[in-house]
Amino acid sequence: MTELKTKVDFSQIDEILKEYDYNKTNLITILQKVQAIYRYLPQEAISYIGKNIEGLSPATVYGVVTFYAQFSLEPKGKYEIKVCDGTACHVRGSMPVLEAIRKKLPMEKGKMTTPNGMFSIETVSCLGACSIAPAIVINEKVYPKMTPEAAIIIIDTLLKENE
Ligand code: FES
Repeated sequence: MTELKTKVDFSQIDEILKEYDYNKTNLITILQKVQAIYRYLPQEAISYIGKNIEGLSPATVYGVVTFYAQFSLEPKGKYEIKVCDGTACHVRGSMPVLEAIRKKLPMEKGKMTTPNGMFSIETVSCLGACSIAPAIVINEKVYPKMTPEAAIIIIDTLLKENE
């Protein structure tokens, strides 16, 4: 499986900053690129970006990161599971699906990623796929009409692929 990067390589961040002209109007793209490397935004990276872009500060960058749901301050799993809990999915049983996944993939309290870094789980609002509710997404792939049993089979398959 892909190793989780835990050490921040500032030269890599420098390259991204350079590519985007150290320009604060490119901040979102810069953050996306850095997050793509680490699967989250480490605090050191946030501070570094804040200190190196004119007109910004670490606190401002931190504020932007916490505002947008697409950014994470915690490492995400190799497989990002999103369980839709919009109205259509909720009434068709998204919560039992979520409970089954959580039971299958225990996590420390308050964490959204399994200790081995393999899976992260979050709930999202409507994915725009209400006709196939309840839906889940794993790394951009949409799984329709989910049931707890089907979700467990999918996770077991992913676990097998990574043995
Ligand atoms: S409510 Fe889940 S896809 Fe719309």
